[in-house]
Amino acid sequence: MIASSVPGLRRDIAGVSVASLAETYGTPLYAYDAEMIRRRCRDLAAWDTIRFAQKACSNLAVLDLVRREGVLVDAVSTGEIHRALAAGYPAHGPNQPGSDGLPPAHPIVYTADIFDRDSLDAVVKHGIHVNCGSADMIEQLAERMPGASITLRVNPGFGHGHSQKTNTGGEGSKHGIWHEEIPDVLRRAEWAGLQVSGLHMHIGSGTDLAHLAEVAGALERVAIEVGRSLTTVSAGGGLPVPYKPGEVHADLSGYFTLWDATRKRLEDRFGHRIRLEIEPGRYLTAESGFVVTEVRAVKKQGGRKYLLVDAGFNTLARPVLYGSYHPMGLCPQGDDPRETSEEVAVGGPLCESGDIFTQTDGGFVATRSLPVAAVGDLLVIEIAGAYGFVMASNYNSKPLPAEVMIDGGRHRLVRARQTPEDLVRGECV
Ligand code: LLP
Repeated sequence: MIASSVPGLRRDIAGVSVASLAETYGTPLYAYDAEMIRRRCRDLAAWDTIRFAQKACSNLAVLDLVRREGVLVDAVSTGEIHRALAAGYPAHGPNQPGSDGLPPAHPIVYTADIFDRDSLDAVVKHGIHVNCGSADMIEQLAERMPGASITLRVNPGFGHGHSQKTNTGGEGSKHGIWHEEIPDVLRRAEWAGLQVSGLHMHIGSGTDLAHLAEVAGALERVAIEVGRSLTTVSAGGGLPVPYKPGEVHADLSGYFTLWDATRKRLEDRFGHRIRLEIEPGRYLTAESGFVVTEVRAVKKQGGRKYLLVDAGFNTLARPVLYGSYHPMGLCPQGDDPRETSEEVAVGGPLCESGDIFTQTDGGFVATRSLPVAAVGDLLVIEIAGAYGFVMASNYNSKPLPAEVMIDGGRHRLVRARQTPEDLVRGECV
């Protein structure tokens, strides 16, 4: 490991030098630390099922890695179903309870508020379990998969997220079946001949344990309305990750205990075992991911200094979308010690003023204290492994970056950088 002595310096990622990654794969680049993903999977081992919300980071190598950790997967589109199958997940699980007496888990669950036509085809073709976020999905599925069992995604009437855009509960959210509609929806399911075997609530992303804890009671109340057909309950995702200096990891053991007690009360009431699932996205991959980018210009606009790097909001959209904070570290060229720091704004190459990594919600440009940088230095944007690459775009006809997996001090390409030909594929004049 190469030591980073001065705050704000980062010369290695998971034991591999940042300079060698940039030289081998070019910039901008996403690099993932496999061991960090494994560690985060193991943190949640108490839960019967960890179901990865792959929308956070769906590279096949990441899906393969979490699958080997025993983690199951959520899919929200035909594309995500395709990815899960390509990463080696079977479409179906066993039919019988396991040796632990728990009902079997579905390896892949399709969770959405609608079926578009191709996702309905894919679900039917592969026989994938569905978590319905609207009652219309029930009849649409029943027509094509008579007698299927389903999960209901319920909107408990409240929600919370790191941004209003990631709050998925309450009247302000389109997600889930409204909690007061459950009796009616149960009648519709019965009429359609579908069995409600699961309940799921996800109140938002980037929330906190205090808000998440309210979900257990809300789910228990709905579970009693559903009754004995219930074999699985899911607490959804939303587990927080520390991004800012001073933030710490939440204590997850108390959260599990709360849900485990809820599950046990339901088991006593129904007289059979209930599988307890959790559905994290961010928690499993955020801290594993780094964007490696190169400083291409250093300029002053009046009194403010800007570092312009070769990654933009086409590479990492969270700052422009939500004003999200990502830690950064500078990797100076050569062995230059760079012992002084200064306040800088960091932006990208796009022709849009919002292309700033150091911005607050509302688009206000902020600054960050970083070691004094020069053109040719590398800048590492950290905690970028969740909702990073997956929300990257081709805006300004920029190619999607390469993705690299680092494991045990070795690195390998897991997605090639797009080429100019890729950018125009499928277009014609
Ligand atoms: N389950 C469902 C049904 C979801 O919609 C989501 C996230 C998750 C689980 C995983 O949530 P997590 O554990 O990652 O918080 N682009 C935003 C986040 C959007 C989250 C969408 N749904 C961001 O960059 O913060």
